[in-house]
Amino acid sequence: MNAPEIKMKLPGPLARAIIERDAAAVSPSYTRPYPLVIARGEGAVVEDVDGNRFLDCAAGIAVTVTGHSHPEVVRAIVEQSQRFLHMSGTDFYYEPQVRLAEELAALAPIDGPVRSFFGNSGTEAVEAAIKLARYHTRRQYLIGFIGSFHGRTMGSLALTASKAIQRRGFGPMMPGVYHAPYADCYRCPVRLTPDSCAAECLDYIEDQILLHLVSPDEVAGIVVEPIQGEGGYLVPPEQFHQRLRELASRHDILLIVDEVQSGMGRTGKMFAIEHFGVRPDVVTIAKGIASGLPLGVASARADVMAWPPGAHASTFGGNPVACAASLATLKLLRDELVANAAVVGEHLLSGLRDLKDRHPLVGDVRGKGLMAGVELVRDRQTKERATTEREAVVHACFERGLLVLGAGPNAIRFCPPLILTIAQADIALRIFDQALAAVETP
Ligand SMILES: Cc1ncc(COP(=O)(O)O)c(C=O)c1O
Repeated sequence: MNAPEIKMKLPGPLARAIIERDAAAVSPSYTRPYPLVIARGEGAVVEDVDGNRFLDCAAGIAVTVTGHSHPEVVRAIVEQSQRFLHMSGTDFYYEPQVRLAEELAALAPIDGPVRSFFGNSGTEAVEAAIKLARYHTRRQYLIGFIGSFHGRTMGSLALTASKAIQRRGFGPMMPGVYHAPYADCYRCPVRLTPDSCAAECLDYIEDQILLHLVSPDEVAGIVVEPIQGEGGYLVPPEQFHQRLRELASRHDILLIVDEVQSGMGRTGKMFAIEHFGVRPDVVTIAKGIASGLPLGVASARADVMAWPPGAHASTFGGNPVACAASLATLKLLRDELVANAAVVGEHLLSGLRDLKDRHPLVGDVRGKGLMAGVELVRDRQTKERATTEREAVVHACFERGLLVLGAGPNAIRFCPPLILTIAQADIALRIFDQALAAVETP
């Protein structure tokens, strides 16, 4: 399928009818940035129910890393489905789950032997990491970061500090979580510039949190996204993660790296933390790991994941079909897609930087591989956030046949399938250019 191909004013009649039914029957808590009703997908192209085609730089929120319905992933799903759909890895054994744990042990950016716990989603992976950290250290407290997103169940929500609406009305949160500033280098929380920075934003942890609020020997874990995803695709300097590792080790605190969005090849390395030369104790993974089937994993140092039978489990977690999809996904990632993400990602990022030279609305371009973010501002000097303009640009992209998503209050993220070609990246850049121009001069 080729894209874009927009045949009508969106949404078309069939899409509109489904959206109306959705409005009456589906939870209104979902945020739909534009009225896309998908009928099918192939590679990096999505067709809606009215036959309009879009180039997909959203990938179901950074999930479909192998593209939509990759034949090898579909084959693995069909073959496993014909054998058996479910048996619960909590009670019994099946080889695909064991093999996936072995492969993750070899791939995870963790030193020494590694064990994995299987759930169904990112938030479950984070819940498992929280429970494991408390269990292993026998400590209660956790440190997270402002702007971070770790999920919406009550444990991960307590760590999440992205948008207030995600927490509003759900308090009190799980107690025992403190938040420190993240390295938002475009809006440095301690007013430094990249050339003078030694990750001083982290001083807040030692000078404030560990001095005034909680003793380090009561902190179980520090939970951090290697590149902040929902928060706006923020890439910290290397020393940020290195200092964090040093601080965690010094106090015997577990370093838990949330790779749910940044992992599985998206940044041009299997895990984003590899860009920073840091080895965490626990890694949480989901989204891209099974090309769209629900799967969440917490992988940890084997000596840390040493809880007894019954301590934690899940009926569906590590479902055999999801494991088969994941094994096929890992093979594709290893064989070609991680490398493709690095090459096409660099091309996309450099094209976005060129657009910055021509569009005053673009304040910052950042990212790694095919995890690319563009922050929009009304004024480059004051950096006033262009929030309504961001929504307008996302919408203008949709109308022109490009799917992108917002991130943070005023950034746009490009998180396409990792099969994206250079030619498709150029199409995305051309449409984004037009969308920016349309919003800048309506
Ligand atoms: C870094 C990170 N952690 C956790 C989650 C939660 O994942 P899920 O929506 O699968 O529960 C997300 C989702 O966007 C995420 O980006």
